[in-house]
Amino acid sequence: MAIRAALAATPPTGDLTPYGDASEGLEWSDAMVESAVGFFPVPIGIATGFRIDDQRFSIPMAVEEPSVVAAATFAGTLIASSGGLLTWSTQPEMVSQIFIEGVATDREELLREKEPEIAREIEPLLSSMRSRGGGYRGMTVTRLDEIDIVRVDLLIDVRDAMGANIINTAAECARSKIEAITGGTVLMCILTNESVRRRAGAKFALPVERLSRGRFTGAESGRRIEMASEVAQVDPSRAVTHNKGVMNGISALAIATGNDTRGIEAAVHRWACRDGRYRGVSTFHVEDDNLIGRIEVPLPMATAGGSVGFHPSSRVSLNLLGNPDSRTLARIGAALGLAQNFAALFALVTEGIQKGHMRMHAARLALLAGARGPEVRKVAHRLAEAKTYTIDGAQDILSRLRSENA
Ligand code: MEV
Repeated sequence: MAIRAALAATPPTGDLTPYGDASEGLEWSDAMVESAVGFFPVPIGIATGFRIDDQRFSIPMAVEEPSVVAAATFAGTLIASSGGLLTWSTQPEMVSQIFIEGVATDREELLREKEPEIAREIEPLLSSMRSRGGGYRGMTVTRLDEIDIVRVDLLIDVRDAMGANIINTAAECARSKIEAITGGTVLMCILTNESVRRRAGAKFALPVERLSRGRFTGAESGRRIEMASEVAQVDPSRAVTHNKGVMNGISALAIATGNDTRGIEAAVHRWACRDGRYRGVSTFHVEDDNLIGRIEVPLPMATAGGSVGFHPSSRVSLNLLGNPDSRTLARIGAALGLAQNFAALFALVTEGIQKGHMRMHAARLALLAGARGPEVRKVAHRLAEAKTYTIDGAQDILSRLRSENA
């Protein structure tokens, strides 16, 4: 029902299950990767109830894991009821890297002096980026002392694109000029997925009284969430799982919008260990009886180019979000990641997360046992009541249900 309401509130111009039939799906897939023999449908759920910078959002999430969408909706709605999430983002700047062997020290200096010539070399490639407000932003030169390689970083504002194509092309275009200036040999040219200059953040404040659950008062739940956040700051083995909870939200949005999840994940995990120790990328603390949640991460999310503009589902997802630009999409991603993370911590430090998971697991078992249509919910409900989450149990319940209805 929540999905129908969300779709009715913001009707997408298209269908979230876009392919007319399998052969059409195969045709699209074949245009996306080589040797396509099929396509892998992942459920798209809609997390409803979000309020981000005073605007309402229903957020499409493509994810295979039970409870993720429900948890996002729960957290988004709860946070919305006390003001919602505030977000921010930097300019969408990405870095193209050129690694050069055999550069003498004096040539390294010369390279810095010749920056305007290198910029002129790549400027023509960036003209359409420039007309949209992006383009070349500067160059730095670094020597990697251990292996005596010089690295040139070209900083480019890629606007709504993920940017990989344009900045890899720019680096390759600068290659011969750089070799001529340095007398060295270019080893490779490629963007860095580090994306530290393309960050987005989100924060919220929630009165702790809203956090009472089971035997825990709101104040106690708030304190426990703060402690869980502290654990993720000092224990890398926990931080990994804490961040996985953040990425449950961000990656699901990235998939629904056709973005490069590997690039985004790589950037976030690199950021998580930027001070030499892997830590949680979000924090929670209690201040003046409010739980304050905060996150800031690199989020190279695109709203144009590559698969983003091409895949039919991604176009529908972006439409559902009001066709945001890349900075807005990254802000929505940061908000969703923080809310997702909050939902997980809230459950973990109170009733545990298995309860919600098992409810969805029961529906899968019912389907596997042969239940169809309305039977699925009925069997799942009885499984949950009996707390016997096995196929045998589901088959048993199904045959009893069918004989009752015979
Ligand atoms: C499960 O997909 C995500 C969690 O493990 C995150 C966490 O532990 O914070 C619940």
